[in-house]
Amino acid sequence: MEKYVINGGNKLYGSVDIQTAKNSVLPILAATVLTDEKIRILNVPEISDVNNMVKILIRLGCKAVFSGRDLIIDSSSADCFEIPSELAHELRSSVFLLGSVVSRFRMAKIAYPGGCDIGLRPVDLHLAGLKRLGVQITEKNGYILCKCDKLTGNEIMLDCPSVGATENIMLAAVRAEGCTTIKNAAREPEIEDLQRFLNAIGAKVSGAGSGTIKIEGVKKLGGCEYLPIHDRIEAGTFLVAGAMCGGEVEINCSCAENLSSLLHKLRENGCNIYIKNDKIVLGSNRRLTSVKSIETQPYPGFPTDLQAQITALCCICSGQSIITENLFETRFKYASELRKMGADITVINRSAFVRGIDRFKGATVVAHDLRGGAALVLAGLAAEGRSEILYISHIDRGYGAFEYKLRKLGADIVRVAV
Ligand code: UD1
Repeated sequence: MEKYVINGGNKLYGSVDIQTAKNSVLPILAATVLTDEKIRILNVPEISDVNNMVKILIRLGCKAVFSGRDLIIDSSSADCFEIPSELAHELRSSVFLLGSVVSRFRMAKIAYPGGCDIGLRPVDLHLAGLKRLGVQITEKNGYILCKCDKLTGNEIMLDCPSVGATENIMLAAVRAEGCTTIKNAAREPEIEDLQRFLNAIGAKVSGAGSGTIKIEGVKKLGGCEYLPIHDRIEAGTFLVAGAMCGGEVEINCSCAENLSSLLHKLRENGCNIYIKNDKIVLGSNRRLTSVKSIETQPYPGFPTDLQAQITALCCICSGQSIITENLFETRFKYASELRKMGADITVINRSAFVRGIDRFKGATVVAHDLRGGAALVLAGLAAEGRSEILYISHIDRGYGAFEYKLRKLGADIVRVAV
């Protein structure tokens, strides 16, 4: 087990390179099972979710090797359609493999997925979508069993625009017979990225980024070299760090357009932000004001994956804020940890009521999940005195080289074995 030790109070200055998006790379890795030809994914992030997905692919019989930060996958030798619980429990995205594994083997047996404990996280929409394509599904002893003679295109209406269900259905449909239409599809940029990747290997997918996605099934898919988009959530986390600590940070990424809802709120807080070529520059040199209210929504609304970080920022703004979480039920576990650092924050049902304090005070706190853990690190960086953040394995799931990047900006943060 490891922890972060942070001496807070340093302003942040300098530039930071943003990794490729975790939420693009994971479904793209799941998609590699669909083809026998080699795929090279460029600049893969150094995070444990990717390492766990690679372990699962190897278990399925795929060959996966790193060449620097590029990952080369050869699924021609894949011969297994089962993902056991010890692997699936490490990673929510293991469920994305249902679509591609059943497409390849006409069978799939996958243990219920794990991932962050941020709510119920059902998979009913994934399963209902696969059923519409002709998959028979049974659930037994913690496993989802899928079987079909063939996959046949169909029209699928999602009850809500689930990111994972949209991606899973896309993966199952690309090699199905006939056309599939997904209505009320999620519109996240990572879904557009998955479409770009699938089309690069020969699929016929259109409409991603809108609420209707059309997939014309093809018989065979090929190989490609692919660079995923930048991680808008990592970029957003560094922007909030800059806002909380003061100074000037330059974020090297081409995802400003995908961060409009955050940039809008940070400007409302009083940050100076400008976008120049592939950089977002944020300067903040005075106490910021509260943003009154924020509600998480599916894209292009305010992302749930930045809710914890912006709430930490609101804790040290002047005035009051109400932050409402509409996607996941238990995504405020970090609030009681922020209270240990002096925050005035009360959670009632799905909303956090925050009254701004002048500064956090250093404390020992526990990371319960990935984004909540990142928010605690930001609070530690802005705090007066020394903080310890425990259970940072949650943070390692999604932020590669987090402390190196923060140190490069001038933060005093080290990783220590416990
Ligand atoms: C993905 C992202 C995660 C992000 C989330 C919302 C990845 C690897 N993870 O997660 O970082 O926080 O989108 O932007 O891309 N739902 C159902 N039934 C289902 C599926 C979902 O009711 O079968 C509900 C969920 O409970 C939740 C909402 O739909 O309330 C959104 O979940 P979803 O978009 O599916 O999130 P994930 O794909 O799990």
